This record gives sequence, C-alpha cells and structure tokens, in this order.
Amino acid sequence: MSAPKPSEITPEPLYRRRREFLKQSIGIGLFAATGKASALVLPRGPFPRRDEADGEKVTPWKYATTYNNFYEFGTDKEDPAENARRLRTDSWSVTVEGECERPGTLALEDLVRPHALEERIYRLRCVEGWSMVIPWLGFPLAALIKRFRPTSKAKYVVFETLYDPEQMPGQRWPILEWPYVEGLRMDEALHPLTILAVGMYGKVLPNQNGAPLRLVVPWKYGFKSIKSIVRIRFQERQPVTTWMRAAPREYGFYANVNPHVDHPRWSQKKERRIGEFFKRDTLMFNGYAEEVAHLYRGMDLGKYF
Ligand code: MTE
Repeated sequence: MSAPKPSEITPEPLYRRRREFLKQSIGIGLFAATGKASALVLPRGPFPRRDEADGEKVTPWKYATTYNNFYEFGTDKEDPAENARRLRTDSWSVTVEGECERPGTLALEDLVRPHALEERIYRLRCVEGWSMVIPWLGFPLAALIKRFRPTSKAKYVVFETLYDPEQMPGQRWPILEWPYVEGLRMDEALHPLTILAVGMYGKVLPNQNGAPLRLVVPWKYGFKSIKSIVRIRFQERQPVTTWMRAAPREYGFYANVNPHVDHPRWSQKKERRIGEFFKRDTLMFNGYAEEVAHLYRGMDLGKYF
C-alpha cells in the first residue's frame, strides 16, 4: 500500500456524528435460478436508498467501483474493476468450521436467505489515507454466527477469501500470502455494526467490491473488510492475518481507525474523501466511538494497533 500525499487543512469542523446507518429491511426474493447454478440477484427495487447520511454524501458509484483494493486482481486501484470480471460468483459456497456445534458447507443462498437485508451507510477508511461513504446491503454478522452455535472456546472468527489463481491472477504472484485472511475478536464480530454485505447502492455487489459476500467493519481500516469470503472459522487463538504476516510492524490485528496512532510510514490524522479536494480530520474509530469504544476499554491502543 502506498503512502498518502502530505496533509492539507480540512474545512470540515470536527463534530460528533450520530450513528449513521439506515436500518430498513428488504426481505424480498434474493436469488434467481440461472440454469444449473443459483446466482444472487437483488430485486429491481424500490430500495430504501438515500444519497446521504447525517450530512455526509454517499460516494459516487463510479468511484466506489473503479478505485479499489483487491490485490487478488492486481495492485493498482483500477486493476480490480478490469480483472475481477472473470470471477464467477454463481454456485458459490461458504464453509463454516472450527469451534461451533453446527459446522458445514452451505450454498451462498442457504447462508444468506434466512437474513433480511438492510441498507447501512458507512464510512470506509482505508489505511492508505483515503475514505468513501458506501451504502451497503447486508445483514449483521452476529445473526449468522448464532446459527452455527459457537462453543465457549470460540474466541475469534477468521475469514478467508477464495484461492483460485485461475480466476484471481494476482494470486500467481507472492505479493501477499494467499488466501487473504482476516479475523475479529468474538465481541467485535458480534457487534451490531459489523455486517456481511451482499450488495451496495441497491445492487448486487460488483466483483471488484468483494462479490458475492464480504465483511464490513466500519470502525476499522478497510483491510479488515475481507472480500469474496469462502471460509469462516471459529477458533480459540488470535489468528495471524494477511497484513500482519506481510508487515507486522505496520499492520496490527485490531486495525481500529485511530488518528492518534500513526502508520510507521505516514500520519493517520487526516484523510482524503474520494471525490473531495480538501482533506478532513480522521475520527477516532472512524466516527463510531460512541458505539465501539467500550470494546477496547483498558487496552493500550498504541500497543494493540
Ligand atoms: N479483501 C481481499 N480479499 N483482498 C484485498 O486485497 N483489500 C482490502 C479490503 N478487502 C482486500 C480485501 C483493503 S486494503 C481495502 S481498503 C478494502 O478491501 C477496499 O474495499 P473497496 O475496494 O470495496 O473500497
């Protein structure tokens, strides 16, 4: 990941923003049969779509779908939009395993169907220093976790992206250790702000944004929001995630957005909202402190970054 440009002064006054997601269910037909396989298809609408949340404008679709990080499809921002076309997301299945009473491999539709979709407008803050505001369509990860009945040993939830160098040309290069792995502490995974997304902007997720299923954890740097998930594992030990393995001094397990803890190579105090000219102040926990600060009470966030 490359370093951001030097800071500019933000015209945006720091103010406490309320929790800003729109909670509306869209419990309607999610899947359509397409020949043998079954693909995730969202209905045509109307969707409970808004263009802003608490005074912050949703990032235009064209930026959210052409300025991406998805190293499986290349390391340049425009690579995923170009190369992820070849990803086949029909007949997708997800394996849930480890410390739980009901492990198994489920077709995507069986994994998602029990859940009513909600639109959540969240800020996404990349560790590189840019941010967007995205209207996700998804459901709480907590609801999915409960279905699999984790045991008392399940202290962490680990996620893995598909490994298939045929479809994901970036995986032919040892840029990162594949497959991409991320993880959350159980209380983070169960937090109501944590969702699994299957869509955005009222549509099915574009491949470059992590189709057909991705994690979204809005108070953490974007790299925690793992894309194209095929495996979810409950385990007792804290996992070593992809970015921790790649650069342990730079990327920690927690990766909470924190303007007071700089990246070793650049400041995290400001960010550039994609589509805007001036930089703005980065907010503690990406503006979700009221909801999540209690998860880290008593922890040294400089040590547990
Ligand atoms: N997931 C996988 N599997 N591979 C990746 O390279 N990049 C992460 C995250 N999820 C990444 C990933 C990073 S660094 C960011 S900032 C977000 O995806 C970007 O999400 P977006 O492209 O939808 O904005």
